[in-house]
Amino acid sequence: MSQRQGLFITLEGIDGAGKSSHVDALEALFRATGREVLRTREPGGTPLAETLRGLVLNEPMDALTESLLVFAARRDHVVNVIAPALARGAVVLCDRFTDATFAYQGGGRGFDLGVLGTLEAWVQGGQGGVPDVLQPALTLWFDLPPETAAERLAGARLPDRFEAQPVDFFRRVADGYACRASADAARFERIDADATRENVWAQVEAAVRRRGLL
Ligand code: TMP
Repeated sequence: MSQRQGLFITLEGIDGAGKSSHVDALEALFRATGREVLRTREPGGTPLAETLRGLVLNEPMDALTESLLVFAARRDHVVNVIAPALARGAVVLCDRFTDATFAYQGGGRGFDLGVLGTLEAWVQGGQGGVPDVLQPALTLWFDLPPETAAERLAGARLPDRFEAQPVDFFRRVADGYACRASADAARFERIDADATRENVWAQVEAAVRRRGLL
């Protein structure tokens, strides 16, 4: 029996877009087919990367430091968790990945996209058994007007350094996601997140089925 190929799926969107509330159902969908499912997140997913997450979300720093820390966390995560899981044939469901860096550090903070591209190639290149630069097979992009996301976030838990940003920052982040999506349209599925939870889930499930991933 040939081993199943790993499947790397990421969820993206601005804060308040509601992406994380669909991970349970996605996991159940793939588990029902008998597959191993690994759920993880960025920044994070390993003890070191979770430590770096705490720094990135809470400590003041400039955009280069922020970029280096999210990519350092990513490197540890890719090498120790994501690449081995894919090599085993697992489905990896990752809440945010490099598109978030292009959107938040690139779009939101205005950091150099060329430098981010270089770091992306270094950090995601040459993992054992994974050719070239590792990229998700599918990115579910939960797209929501920044004003609506801000309303959803208002009054929620104590905001971190990103959630505390003004709506203009999230407009730039949203534009950053739109740029990444148009540069790699085959990888992205745009989910209209300005809808009921049931409707958003229906879009997610339809996208996964349409791509023949189940
Ligand atoms: P989360 O709350 O969805 O887990 O995301 C944590 C925050 O980190 C979120 O505001 C986006 C931000 N972030 C970046 O700025 N750059 C990145 O590369 C990643 C993965 C997240």
